[in-house]
Amino acid sequence: MTPDEVEIYCCPVDGSELVLREEAGRQYLASANGIRYPVNDGIPDFVIGDSLADIEAATQAEYDRVADDIYDRALDWQFKAFLEDEETVRETMLDMIAVEPGMKVLEVGCGTGRDSWRLAKRLGAAGELHMQDLSSRMVHVCRRQMAGFRAQHGLECAEVYSVSNATALPYPDGTFDAVFHFGGFNHFGDLKAGAAELTRVTRIGGRVLYGDEAVAPWLKGTEFDGIVSANNALFKADIPLTSLPASARDVTVKWVIANCFYVIAYTRGEDGPPPLDLDLPHTGVRGGSLRSRYFGVLEGVSVEAKAMVRQAAADAGMSIHEWLDRVVRDAAGSGKK
Ligand SMILES: C[S@@+](CC[C@H](N)C(=O)[O-])C[C@H]1O[C@@H](n2cnc3c(N)ncnc32)[C@H](O)[C@@H]1O
Repeated sequence: MTPDEVEIYCCPVDGSELVLREEAGRQYLASANGIRYPVNDGIPDFVIGDSLADIEAATQAEYDRVADDIYDRALDWQFKAFLEDEETVRETMLDMIAVEPGMKVLEVGCGTGRDSWRLAKRLGAAGELHMQDLSSRMVHVCRRQMAGFRAQHGLECAEVYSVSNATALPYPDGTFDAVFHFGGFNHFGDLKAGAAELTRVTRIGGRVLYGDEAVAPWLKGTEFDGIVSANNALFKADIPLTSLPASARDVTVKWVIANCFYVIAYTRGEDGPPPLDLDLPHTGVRGGSLRSRYFGVLEGVSVEAKAMVRQAAADAGMSIHEWLDRVVRDAAGSGKK
C-alpha cells in the first residue's frame, strides 16, 4: 500500500484521519485514537474482531470458509435451478444505479467479484471501483478473479480492495458517486445502521442499491415459498423497507431471480425526509395548512361549539382555520385583528 492510497479512508470508529506506518516489515494504518488496522498483502483490514455482532462474526466465518471453492459453484446452481440468466439479472441491477464512465463506486460485499467486473466494465479507464467485504478470503478471491476478468473483458478502471464491516465503513461522508450491495444485507448486524452507512458514504444525488433474499410478499405461504424456503431458510425474510433512511428519494423496488430476491434502489437526498411547503393554505372549507393542522391543534371544543364555528365561518366567508385563528388571537389578546 502507498501513502496516497490511504487518503480515501478514515477510521471507521470515529472518522479520524489514518496514517500508513510500518513495523517489523508489516504495514498498518494508524488512527489518531491509537487503533491499528493491519494491511495484509496490500489490503487494509478495518474489522476489529470483537466489535462484530454475533451474526456478523458467524457470517464472516461462513464466507471465509466457502470463498475458495464452494461459493461460485453454489451461485451457478442457484441461477440454473431458478431458471434465470445471471447476465440479465446483474446488468438489470446495475442499470438501477446509473453507473457512468469515470465514476467512483463502492461495492459492499463484493464476494468473488460476480458484479465487480461488470461494474468495472461500466466505469472505464477514468473510473474507480472500491470493493469491500467482511470476509478477507472473499476479498482475496475477488482480487484474484478480477485479474482474470481484467484480461478477459479489457477492464481499465482503478481497483481498490479493503476488508471492512458494512455497518462501520472506513470512508468519509459522500465519498462515492454510487454504492452497490447485493447478497449480504439480511445478515448485517443492524439493517438500519447498514443502510445508513451505505447512504452516508454516497454523495447527495448519488444512487444506492441493496438487495438480498426474501420471497415476494404475494408468494408467501404458497407451495413455491415452501419449496424454496425448505432449501434455503433465508428466503423466509421480509423485504426490509423500514431500513431505508429518511433521505431516500426516487425509491425503486424490484424482485429478481424468480421473485425470491428484493432489490431496493434510491437516490441519496439531503438529510431528513422530503421538504414540504408547510404554509401553503388549503383551499377547502377547513382551510389552514400542513403546519397549522399538525402544530396548531388545541385541546378541542364541545360538539355544539364546533357546529357554531362552522356556521360562523361560513357566514363570514372564511375558512374555519381563518375564522378560528382570528377569534382565538383576539380572545387571547394578541392584538391581531
Ligand atoms: C451472498 S454473498 C454475495 C456476494 C456478491 N455480492 C454476489 O452477488 O455474488 C454475500 C457477501 O456479503 C458479505 N457480507 C455479509 N455481511 C457483510 C457485512 N456486514 N459487511 C460487508 N460484507 C458483508 C459476505 O461476506 C459475502 O461475501
